[in-house]
Amino acid sequence: MKFKRNILCIGAGYVGGPTMAVIAAKCPEYKVTVVDVNADRIQAWNTDALPIFEPGLLDVVRSARGRNLFFATDIAAGIRAADIIFVSVNTPTKTFGHGAGMASDLQYWEKTAHEIVDHSDRSKIIVEKSTLPVRTAEAMERILQENKKGIHFEVVSNPEFLAEGSAVKDLLGPDRVLIGSRQTDAGLKAAGEIAGIFAHWVAAERIITTNLWSAELSKLVANAFLAQRISSINAVSALCEKTGADVGEISFAVGSDSRIGPRFLNASIGFGGSCFKKDILNLVYISRSYGLNEVADYWEAVVRMNEYQQERFVRTIIREMFQTVVGKRIVLLGFAFKANTGDTRESPGIHVARKLLEERAALVVSDPQALDNARRDLAGVAGAPGTVEYEPDPYRAAADAQAIAVITEWEIYRKLDFGKIFASMRKPAFIFDGRNILDHEKLFKIGFNVFPLGKPGLTHFK
Ligand code: NAD
Ligand code: UGA
Repeated sequence: MKFKRNILCIGAGYVGGPTMAVIAAKCPEYKVTVVDVNADRIQAWNTDALPIFEPGLLDVVRSARGRNLFFATDIAAGIRAADIIFVSVNTPTKTFGHGAGMASDLQYWEKTAHEIVDHSDRSKIIVEKSTLPVRTAEAMERILQENKKGIHFEVVSNPEFLAEGSAVKDLLGPDRVLIGSRQTDAGLKAAGEIAGIFAHWVAAERIITTNLWSAELSKLVANAFLAQRISSINAVSALCEKTGADVGEISFAVGSDSRIGPRFLNASIGFGGSCFKKDILNLVYISRSYGLNEVADYWEAVVRMNEYQQERFVRTIIREMFQTVVGKRIVLLGFAFKANTGDTRESPGIHVARKLLEERAALVVSDPQALDNARRDLAGVAGAPGTVEYEPDPYRAAADAQAIAVITEWEIYRKLDFGKIFASMRKPAFIFDGRNILDHEKLFKIGFNVFPLGKPGLTHFK
């Protein structure tokens, strides 16, 4: 079959895989190929055991795979055949050298730019899908235009706003698609071409076009705003615990103001995920590099508050369990950074586990999807004196335990038989609800000592 255009995506991760699957499903006249240096990942995309867990993803992949959606490892061949290349490689925080711990590590991204130059023999549109520092497109253009082949690469920014756990839903019904381009004829034409892909299923008024720098910066700012709401309500949760106010009631009262809105106001043990912290630190780094220290400090406080909240949660556990957790069996209920994903990158669970292991607790980690990742994350905590067990079944995990700490808001945890769990635990039994998803009064009546976030604790101690 002759396709209208060949799309290539470099990077078959949480963004590249689902995004391209949806594009292929919605645009049968485009051939969509996804490539990655990680051959195992590609192999998994070609089976029904996909490398990432996302509700609804397998159906979308199966609807297009082998028809106009292909997963491959031959990056050079993919580049040669492509008219449009989405770059969706990872852009983690730099861990070395200048800007370590703050700036984006752009080595994977730059490598792809060189590969594109090396293997291209005709002009192409290059789409930045990865989240990148503002003005990265300029650097990409410089690398790409260095070619001696007389070919032109038009760089477009199309940041991704999907959230894990709802990626397919978000991709099928996005609040907006953002496309930034040079405001030249070639730039606007390229932006129009990318808009044409999304127009297959996204209403025209939801496709926003801007200049390149606005698109790049909007992505960092959107994540910073979302994270800021969480840090704001988490800061309030600490105040609630001192004053007797209830953070849930405050979220409802404040979020009922239509100017504020109710979403992203759930107090928690802190935000996790691969992007919020990384993108805010990147924003901080960029601001400082322009000498905007007040701007940098402002955003940095969002990350500091998040660290405080995670630390506060651990301190509460230790304090309420009589200042020692040595040898105590404590269940981490959930380990993923949020529900409906197996992803544990930057999960608050990692911090909580490390700290409790340092305190020599005996941990049991339970999660329906994230145990493989949890094992990898905690393997690095070698030398911590505590021990870790991994148990997918929450009932078995809780047997003989002294405390449960809710880390992830999995729906299944709301429906557990806590009477049965309580009966199998050592007494006094504690629950620390890091997500405020459980019925605290009911747990208290069962016999638990209950510590929600941002609400008074309920204890049976006189
Ligand atoms: P990821 O680590 O899951 O996937 C990136 C993939 O790129 C990896 O499989 C890696 O092997 C591959 N890769 C790296 N260098 C390569 C190269 N030179 N050639 C071929 N493949 C290469 O990352 P992700 O979560 O999909 O994130 C990708 C980008 O999208 C990041 O910039 C991130 O900030 C952004 N983003 C992520 C999310 C999310 O929910 N995870 C949402 C929006 C935006
Ligand atoms: C987030 C953004 O929501 C996406 O728009 C963005 O594309 C993505 O980052 C990215 O750039 O990677 P994601 O991190 O997948 O998506 O998930 P979120 O739903 O935003 O949750 C992030 C963290 O905040 C989770 O740990 C979650 O539990 C926590 N959270 C969220 C709260 O603690 N309280 C809330 O009210 C909402």
